[in-house]
Amino acid sequence: MTLTEEPPTTAPSSTESPLVDEDTAGHRFRVHRSTMTSPEVLRQELRRVFEHSWLYVGHESEVAEPGDYVRRPVGGRNVFMVRGAKSKQVHVFHNTCTHRGAVVCRQKSGNAKVFQCFYHAWTFDSEGNLSGVPDREAYGEGLDFSTLGLRSVARVASYRGFVFASYDPDIVELVDYLAGAAEYLDLIADSAEAGMEIVKGTNEYCISANWKLLAENSVDGYHALPTHDTYFKYLVARGLVFSGSLDGRAKNLGNGHAVIEYLAPWGRPTARWGPDFDEGVRGEIDAARAALVERHGEQRGTRIADSNRNMLIYPNLVINDIMAVTVRTFMPSSPGQMDVTAWQLAAKDEHPAVRQTRLDNFLTFLGPAGFATPDDVEALESCQQGFNSGGVEWNDISRGMDREPKGNDELQMRTFWRRWADQMGDSDFGATVNR
Ligand code: FES
Ligand SMILES: [Fe+2]
Repeated sequence: MTLTEEPPTTAPSSTESPLVDEDTAGHRFRVHRSTMTSPEVLRQELRRVFEHSWLYVGHESEVAEPGDYVRRPVGGRNVFMVRGAKSKQVHVFHNTCTHRGAVVCRQKSGNAKVFQCFYHAWTFDSEGNLSGVPDREAYGEGLDFSTLGLRSVARVASYRGFVFASYDPDIVELVDYLAGAAEYLDLIADSAEAGMEIVKGTNEYCISANWKLLAENSVDGYHALPTHDTYFKYLVARGLVFSGSLDGRAKNLGNGHAVIEYLAPWGRPTARWGPDFDEGVRGEIDAARAALVERHGEQRGTRIADSNRNMLIYPNLVINDIMAVTVRTFMPSSPGQMDVTAWQLAAKDEHPAVRQTRLDNFLTFLGPAGFATPDDVEALESCQQGFNSGGVEWNDISRGMDREPKGNDELQMRTFWRRWADQMGDSDFGATVNR
């Protein structure tokens, strides 16, 4: 085992000690670092968090036509999303043949009338029905093939085009789970009259850090200036006037979700031209801005156009509507390793020149080789290395506890961790981890 895989063993000595320790009166909030390194914590997270949350699967625009499908892991399980040819509904199926288990959907994406298992050639239609069995007569009369269709994930629901699934049949309705996050999904969905779509192409990368570090980082205003100093220098070199601060507010959206909303100096392809954009797209972007104000009124229209929003939907979905819109999900493969998948969202009817600006903007900051992502990866991996060195037991996440939460405070992380502690933290579990 390498050093980075070796978890420190400096857990709290008392089995009474929670892994998330909040002292409201003392304005102190801290998280034990074993939450980032312990294989037992990860085992319990898979059972307690990922099995009982609504998890992001994809966007309806990815399966726009009947028979369109995408295959992807969700919560560590292999599923695929497909639009039924007859019903036109979006289904999310467990990607396993009901005969003897083989993976049914083997391509990452495409369009198919049927899914034929390569092992013994059982065939399923896009609604999940078993439509073909070679040598069916060999089974005699007893077997009811209508019961052997593909299995849907226990719960599947969509909100404004964002498709979620849950393995918990008893989980609350999606809209109740989303709570205050729904309003922010509305702001994105309402950005374009024709609707939003996922741009073709996916960013996939690994980070040698605990998955919760990316949940924290994605809504962390505090790190933006020091970590992304190069990007801000680049913007200034391109003619942006930057005051040196990102003013904004943080908000607890309920159920572990949080957002920061702030004005930033950069242009937003959705509807705010900036000096970092070419003059040639200014007319189109100004027109989009005027259309937003006309459709939604001055206040909501300018909010959609101007303000940046970094949102975490608990546990592992980030939608950052900043200098481009990124949809990002991530999943642990070990306590110190995660797989990240990211897409970008854009107006369906976007002018080609604006789309090009958006693509450039996305790659410049958010892409895996852009200004931001490598900085963030470096920071997260550095934290993980720090945890693995041991010597310090707790992370401090107290910033701003005694004031109206600002975007560069740490309310967002506390919101996540409180929900995490709710799902994870009973005494039996504490005893196991802290032993
Ligand atoms: S496992 Fe799929 S047809 Fe046998
Ligand atoms: Fe960052």
